[in-house]
Amino acid sequence: MKALILYSSRDGQTREIAARIAQTLAPQQLCDVIDLLEAQKVEWAQYDRVLIGASIRYGHFHPALMKFVTQHKAELHQRVSGFFSVNLTARKADKCTPATNAYTHKFLEQSPWQPDCCAVFAGALRYPRYRWFDRVMIQLIMRMTGGETDTSKEVEYTDWNKVAVFAQDFVQLPGKSL
Ligand SMILES: Cc1cc2nc3c(=O)[nH]c(=O)nc-3n(C[C@H](O)[C@H](O)[C@H](O)COP(=O)(O)O)c2cc1C
Repeated sequence: MKALILYSSRDGQTREIAARIAQTLAPQQLCDVIDLLEAQKVEWAQYDRVLIGASIRYGHFHPALMKFVTQHKAELHQRVSGFFSVNLTARKADKCTPATNAYTHKFLEQSPWQPDCCAVFAGALRYPRYRWFDRVMIQLIMRMTGGETDTSKEVEYTDWNKVAVFAQDFVQLPGKSL
C-alpha cells in the first residue's frame, strides 16, 4: 500500500516540504504527492497512510482544507494520518509546536479529523516574488514581529531536519487494519 501526501500551498513551500517528505520516505514507503485542490476523487483503497500539509495566508488555511477533512474524516480516521502546517510565525522557537502555534492549535480544535501525528514547520519569506500589496503587508507584519524587513531578500526558515524526523515518525506509526 502507498502513502498519500496532500498539500495546500500558495507559493510552493508546502509543496516542497511534501515532496521532501516523499523523497525521505522513498526507500521504505511509496508515496503519491497530490495538490489538495485537485484531490476531488481520491482512490482511498490504494492508501493506508495519509499526510496533509497546509500553509497559512493572512491568518487562515485555505478553506478547502477544512472542507476536505470534514468530507473525508471517516477515510482519514481509518488510516494512519498526519498533519503539518506551514507558516512564518513558526520561525519563532516558542511558536513552532501544535500546542504553541495558534493556527495549528485552532485547526486541531475545530477539525472533526484528529490526526495521529502533527508538526508545525516554519515556511519561507520571499519578498521579491510577492505582488506589491502582499510585499507591503508582510513587511509590516515582519516589522511588528521583529523579522526580516529587507524586501530584496528571500529567506527560507524551514528546518529540513525537523521535516525528515517528522517523516520518519509518521512512517513508523503502527498501521491500522483496514
Ligand atoms: C500574502 C501572505 C500572507 C501571509 N500570512 C501569514 C500569516 O498570517 N501568518 C503567518 O505566520 N505566515 C503568513 N505568511 C507566511 C506563509 O505562511 C509562508 O510564506 C509559507 O512558507 C507559505 O507557504 P506556501 O508557499 O506553501 O503557501 C504569509 C505569506 C504571504 C505571502
